[in-house]
Amino acid sequence: MCPWFESRWYHITKTSGLRSACFISDLFPMKAVFAQSPEPHIDPLFESLRKWLGQHTPTSVVVVTDPMTEKWCLPALNPHLPPGTQFLRLGQHGEKIKSIEHTHALWDSFEGMGMDRHGLVIALGGGTITDLTAFASSTYLRGVHFWLIPTTLLAMVDAAVGGKTGINFRGLKNRLGTFASPVGISIHTAFLDTLNAREMSNGWAEHIKHTLIASEEAAQLPWEDTMRNAQPQAFEEAILYSIGIKSNIVGQDPTETKGARKTLNFGHTTGHALEAWAMGQSIDLKHGEAVAWGMRIALKLSELNESCPNCASGDFDGVSRSLMELIPLPCNVPDAPVLWEFMRSDKKNEGDQVKVVLLDGPGRPKFDQEVTLTDLEQAILQLPIS
Ligand SMILES: NC(=O)c1ccc[n+]([C@@H]2O[C@H](COP(=O)([O-])OP(=O)(O)OC[C@H]3O[C@@H](n4cnc5c(N)ncnc54)[C@H](O)[C@@H]3O)[C@@H](O)[C@H]2O)c1
Ligand SMILES: [Zn+2]
Repeated sequence: MCPWFESRWYHITKTSGLRSACFISDLFPMKAVFAQSPEPHIDPLFESLRKWLGQHTPTSVVVVTDPMTEKWCLPALNPHLPPGTQFLRLGQHGEKIKSIEHTHALWDSFEGMGMDRHGLVIALGGGTITDLTAFASSTYLRGVHFWLIPTTLLAMVDAAVGGKTGINFRGLKNRLGTFASPVGISIHTAFLDTLNAREMSNGWAEHIKHTLIASEEAAQLPWEDTMRNAQPQAFEEAILYSIGIKSNIVGQDPTETKGARKTLNFGHTTGHALEAWAMGQSIDLKHGEAVAWGMRIALKLSELNESCPNCASGDFDGVSRSLMELIPLPCNVPDAPVLWEFMRSDKKNEGDQVKVVLLDGPGRPKFDQEVTLTDLEQAILQLPIS
């Protein structure tokens, strides 16, 4: 028998709280799995989750964690969970959990605990846990309810918002996925207290992306100061600002068919290429670090590309230097042709063309802009490095 089918193989362990489920189902109507995403909100006492649980009395509740979020985040959530809640802790953490094997392990565990379509799966973790758990939940029994509790800055400002789920496949990022909305998203900013500086920088990358694509004042906005001297109040403002931008864009184009949503991929075509290359080399590169570098390339491509007439050479060098300093890359970058091969596999391409998001000035994104390998080589060569 294939070893993937042994759920223990994946080190998913059930932790405390194995009292048997004791809910009586209310037979509440199932929502379509893909519906308008709920607005995430700062909710330090998980009031909206408790209210939902009280109204819907799910047949089972399961919380998915990784070792870090079990240790640092579960204690704050635990008192708000109903009796009978079950817990699944993945044995690993980080990008490697976004795999078909971990998805299989979750499905296996849902099956083992007898979850039906009136159950609730709660994801407690960073973007990898929210992406994986949402994917497994949205495909199990054609979709069971799931609730997201992001515990990293990156997941709060971005990954938990917008209804995209996904795992990596054959070395390519987010190759398998669904559009599916959680029934709720709770943000508890105290979880940020246990994140190290590198993880905080990682999250700021997506916040900066939102400011660059949505604000004409992006170059003057306080993101640099907010990052350097971050105070809790400033964090909350930045998180809500990012959520507002992303929700607005997603609301215009929930399934990325009209175009508006594509602007959220700013910095991601080259960023994902770098990330996929790093995964193959077992290099510890964070998503936000890859995206920060990808944005620097996209900014330089914007300066060089004729389709951005309002953008002159050197216009973005200041922003690019700040990105380099605040969110440094932990590794060297491979040669452009190596990245290009990954970029050609990007799922947003049509045919052989590589299309990216450029900026015709801050707050003026242009999606579906075709670029060539020569453009990429030029952009890398001309990146400001000091
Ligand atoms: N679905 C989307 O729309 C979307 C958008 C942006 C990014 N993403 C995805 O998000 C993923 C990256 O998410 P991430 O940066 O949160 O990574 P992550 O989930 O790997 O978390 C980073 C690390 O922090 C640990 N951690 C989490 N919360 C903690 C806490 N409160 N205290 C201490 N440690 C904690 C985790 O165990 C992990 O080791 C990528 O796979 C990316 O593709 C998805
Ligand atoms: Zn991203």
